[in-house]
Amino acid sequence: MILITGGAGYIGAHVALELMQQGDDVLILDNLCNSYRSTLDRIAALSGRRPGFIQGDVRNRGLLDTVFADYPIDAVVHCAGLKAVGESVREPLRYYDTNVGGTVTLCQAMAHAGVFNLLFSSSATVYGDCATMPIDETCATGQPTNPYGQSKLMAENVMQSMVCSDERWSVGLLRYFNPIGAHKSGLLGEAPTSTPNNLLPYLLQVASGQRAALSVFGRDYDTPDGTGVRDYIHVVDLAEGHVKALDALRTQRGVQIWNLGTGLGYSVLEVVRAFEKVSGVQVPLVFEGRRAGDIARCWANPEKALNELGWSARRSLDRMLADAWRWECHLHQEEATTLVS
Ligand code: NAD
Ligand code: WQD
Repeated sequence: MILITGGAGYIGAHVALELMQQGDDVLILDNLCNSYRSTLDRIAALSGRRPGFIQGDVRNRGLLDTVFADYPIDAVVHCAGLKAVGESVREPLRYYDTNVGGTVTLCQAMAHAGVFNLLFSSSATVYGDCATMPIDETCATGQPTNPYGQSKLMAENVMQSMVCSDERWSVGLLRYFNPIGAHKSGLLGEAPTSTPNNLLPYLLQVASGQRAALSVFGRDYDTPDGTGVRDYIHVVDLAEGHVKALDALRTQRGVQIWNLGTGLGYSVLEVVRAFEKVSGVQVPLVFEGRRAGDIARCWANPEKALNELGWSARRSLDRMLADAWRWECHLHQEEATTLVS
C-alpha cells in the first residue's frame, strides 16, 4: 500500500488515480486545508475504486504512528505542503512548519515504522535563477527568492542528511517544473480554494468570466517576446513520472534526484495564444511590471528521468490547455454544493 500525503490536492490526486489504475492500493492523508473531500469521489469515479482516506495533519506524529501501525504501507509519496509563494512571504513560519517540520515528522514516523521508500514533491524553484538552460540535476541549487522555495530546499537537505546517516533509505526528490492541465475526462483537476497565483488557474478564471483580465507580469525579459518562459508539464505526465520513480525506488538505495519537465519552454504570451486557439475564447490582458522574485527563463533537461526511469512527458501544450479548459467548464456546470462538501 502506498501512502500519499496531500493526496486530495491537485498533484496528489492525479498520482493517486494513476497508481490505483495500475492496481496499487492507495491511502491518502490530507488535512484538506487546500482541497476538497469530494476529490475522493472523483478519484473513485475514474478508477472504479475508492482510495483509503484519513483526514489529518502530516505534522501529527501520534496520528502518523497509528497510520503506519494500522496499514501495510511500504512507500510514501509526500505531496502535502503549502505552495503559495506570496503567502509564504507573509507567513514564513507557517511554511517552514508545514513544509520542513511536516517532512521531518513524516520521516521520523516512517523510520519508526520501518518504511524507507519515500518520494518527495520538490520544485524547480530549488535551482534559483540558473544562468544556463536547460537545467539538469547537476546544476547547483540556488538561492530561492522566497520562503516557499527555501522551505523546499531545506526539506531536500533534511532528507539528504537523513539518507547519509542511514543506508536503509531510498528517497526520490522529484523536481517539478510547471505542472498544469487536468485529467482528460474533465473530472479531475486543480480547484483553487482562493485567488490563484499561478498563470494557468488565473487564466482559466479569466476565460470563464470570473475575473476581468489576466495580468502579464513583465514584458521586458530577455526572452523572444519579453515575457517569462517556463516548462509547462501535463499533470498526468507528472503523475506517470511518480509511478516510474516509485518502481525505481524499490530497487535502489540513497537519494535520487529527477527533473520532471518536458524540456520545452513557452512564454506567457505563447501560452495565452495557444489557449485562445484551443478554447476559442479571447483572454483580455493587462501588461504590468515584473512580479517580485520572478526569473526570466526556466526549463528542464529531462534526460536523466528518461535514461533512469524510462519516463518522458508525452502530452503537448495544446493538450494541457484543452484538458484544463474541459475541467474548468466542468467545474462551472457542477452544483457548488457538490464541490464544496
Ligand atoms: P495542493 O495545495 O493542491 O495540494 C497539497 C495538499 O496538501 C492539499 O490537499 C492540502 O490540503 C494538503 N496539506 C497541506 N498541508 C498539510 C498538512 N500539514 N497535513 C496534511 N495535508 C496537508 O498543491 P499541489 O499543486 O498538488 O502540490 C503538491 C506538492 O507539490 C506540494 O508539496 C507543492 O509544494 C509541490 N509542488 C507543486 C507545484 C505546482 O506548481 N503545483 C510545483 C512544484 C512543487
Ligand atoms: C509562470 C509565468 C509569471 C501569473 C511557481 C513557483 C514554483 C512552482 C510553480 C509550486 C511567470 C507569469 C503568472 C499571472 C503572469 N510552484 N504570470 N500572470 O512562478 O514559474 O512558479 O509555480 O511549487 O515553485 O515559484 O509559475 O504560474 O506563477 O508563473 O504573467 O497572473 O507566468 O510571471 O513568467 P512560476 P507561475
